[in-house]
Amino acid sequence: MQSLQDKASEWSGVAASDAFAIDEGNAFEELGGTPQPFVDLSTNFYTRVYEDEEEWFREIFSGSQKEDAIRNQYEFLVQRMGGPPLFSQRRGHPALIGRHRPFPVTHRAAERWLHHMQQALETTESINPDIKTKMMNFFRHTAYFLVAGNELTRQAQAVPPCKHATSKPAV
Ligand code: HEM
Repeated sequence: MQSLQDKASEWSGVAASDAFAIDEGNAFEELGGTPQPFVDLSTNFYTRVYEDEEEWFREIFSGSQKEDAIRNQYEFLVQRMGGPPLFSQRRGHPALIGRHRPFPVTHRAAERWLHHMQQALETTESINPDIKTKMMNFFRHTAYFLVAGNELTRQAQAVPPCKHATSKPAV
């Protein structure tokens, strides 16, 4: 069976080695060692998401306040890109597939998410072009990893209960 990583590579068109090229250096340090560039990026990204003309996509985020979504994302990015573990200190393990379980993370949603992230990156001046490319590859691969994970959790939910794992009823 194809692993989630394999599916992510196939669907995103980004090889795992390119997706994780972001880990070759320390992006957080290379961008100045403060959360600011990540705050800029996440603010830019979620401003686009919350103003999206495509209502179906905007709706996916309607359960969260924009400010909270920005903070969740930039703390995760700081942590993932080599900075202090801000996200885990406040929210616990990232467990991205589990945290996205309530949302319809489809191929279409991934493309819309990536569209906004591409635009947000293009207009974030505090991030240099080399890191932008590495981030975008990481985002593409991660987005499709989440799509694959979402499909898997939905399939698991669709499986009817079976008798193989039930306990013997008490008499
Ligand atoms: C949170 C949707 C891709 C990382 C969320 C939330 C939604 C969402 C609706 C809740 C907003 C909040 O309260 O923080 C999606 C969709 C995606 C996608 C539709 C399309 C594929 C990604 C990717 C990443 C990511 C590619 C990482 C690179 C996160 C993080 C949170 C989050 C860290 C905060 C989780 C928390 O604090 O509980 N996402 N997301 N998402 N997403 Fe995504």
